[in-house]
Amino acid sequence: MTLNPELLQKLANTAGTPFWLYDAATLRQRIADIKFITDSPGVQARFAMKACPATKVLQEMQKAGIWIDAVSGNEVLRALAAGFQGGQEPAQVCLTCDVFRDNALDVVLKHGVLPNIGSPGQIQDLVKAGYKGAISVRVNPGFGHGHVNACDTGGPSSKHGIWFEDFAEINKAAQAAGFPIHMLHAHIGSGPQFDELVDNLTQLAEEFASFLPQLPYLRSVSLGGGIPHNYRDPQAKVPLERLKKLFADCRERLVAAAGRPIGLEIEPGRYYVAPTCILVAKVTDVKRTRDNIKGAGATFAMVDAGFVDLVRPAMYGSYHRITVLPHDGAQRPEVPIVVAGPLCESGDVFTRDDQELLQPRDLPQPEAGDLLVLHDAGAYGYAMSSNYNSIGRAPQLWLEEDGSVQMISRRETLADLLKAECSEKLSV
Ligand code: LLP
Repeated sequence: MTLNPELLQKLANTAGTPFWLYDAATLRQRIADIKFITDSPGVQARFAMKACPATKVLQEMQKAGIWIDAVSGNEVLRALAAGFQGGQEPAQVCLTCDVFRDNALDVVLKHGVLPNIGSPGQIQDLVKAGYKGAISVRVNPGFGHGHVNACDTGGPSSKHGIWFEDFAEINKAAQAAGFPIHMLHAHIGSGPQFDELVDNLTQLAEEFASFLPQLPYLRSVSLGGGIPHNYRDPQAKVPLERLKKLFADCRERLVAAAGRPIGLEIEPGRYYVAPTCILVAKVTDVKRTRDNIKGAGATFAMVDAGFVDLVRPAMYGSYHRITVLPHDGAQRPEVPIVVAGPLCESGDVFTRDDQELLQPRDLPQPEAGDLLVLHDAGAYGYAMSSNYNSIGRAPQLWLEEDGSVQMISRRETLADLLKAECSEKLSV
C-alpha cells in the first residue's frame, strides 16, 4: 500500500493516533491472487477469518465467493452477520476449534456449519448436544512449520488435530455416532519458506490420498492456510502460478485416489490481509538511555501505539517494516532507533527481528510530532489487540479506491471496557 503522508496527517488530526488504515485496493488485489490460484475445477478458497474478522473485510470475501474457516462460535456469528450462509452443502462456513467453548456447540447446531473436529472428545460433545450431521476431521500429519514454534501447527509439539495413526479410531467413533466424514483437514503452519510449503503440501495431499478409500462420504480435503507474506520486502512476490499448479495437481491426485470427484480447499488468513493495513502512531518523544546496549545506550522513539495494538513483535519477535513521516516534511539522516510504546513492560518495543529485545533499526532521525507507520499489520493485528493497561482499541479506518475514507470501528472508550463488569449475586 502506497503511503500518502498528507492524507495520513489529516486522518491523524481527525481520528487521533494511533489508528489502523485498511486499503481496499490492496485487499482486492490479494483476493484476486487467491481467486487466481484456486481457479481450477474443484478447488475452493476459504478465509481463515481469525487473521482479520472486520465485517468490511468479510463482506469483500463474501462478494468474491470465498468461504470461511472460523475458530469460535462468535466468529461464525460474525461471518453470518456479514452475509455468509449456514446450512449450505458444501458448507460455506466451517468451524475449526480445538475446544467447543462458550456458544460454539449451540452455533453448530443452530446454523448448519461444518464442525472440524480435532480431538476424540469433540465427537462425544457433538453426540451429547444432539448434533445430527456431517463432520470434518482435522489431522496432524506429524510435521509442520511456523515462523516461530508457537505458530507451528503440525508435528509432535503441536496440540492440533488427530494423528493419522489414530484416525481409524476416530473414523469408527464417527460411524458409531452417525456422523459422515465430509472433509479431511490439516493446517500445518504459518509463515514457512515457500519451497518448504510446496513440499509439505504435496506430501500432505499424498498422505490424504492414501486415506480416501476408507472414506465413502468424503467430499473435500483441506490443505489449510500458511501461504506466506514477505514482511521485509514489499516487492517480493509469491509465485502464484506455481501455487495454482500445485493445487490443481493435488486435487487431481485426490480424485485419482478416490476414483470420484473430491474437492480441494485452502484457507489462508495472512496472505489475504497482511499488506492491506497499516498502524499509524505518533512519535511523542525521543530520548536516550545510558549504557544499556553494549555500553552505548540507545535512542528511543516513544510512540503512542504499543503491543496492545500490534502484538506480533512483542509476542513472536516478528519484524514489521517501519516508516517515519517527519512532521515538517524534511529529509533527515538515518540513525539507529528503538521504537517503543506506552505500556508498562520493557517488551513494548516494535523494532524487533527475533527474540532479542532491543534491536535498534536505522530510521530517519525521529522528532516528537512525526507520524510513524508500522507496515503489514492487517493479519493478526487488530485481531490480536487487547485492552491491557485499560487502553481502548484504536479506530479502524478504511480507504476506498475512490480516495474516500470511512471509520469502520471507533476508538474504544472506558465505557466499552467496563461494559461486561457487573455485580450479580450467584446462587451457589
Ligand atoms: N487454518 C487454521 C486452522 C489456522 O489455525 C490458521 C492460523 C490458518 C488457517 C491461517 O494461517 P495463515 O494463512 O494466516 O498463516 N498469530 C500468528 C499466526 C497464528 C496462526 C494461527 N492459525 C501471527 O501473527 O503470525
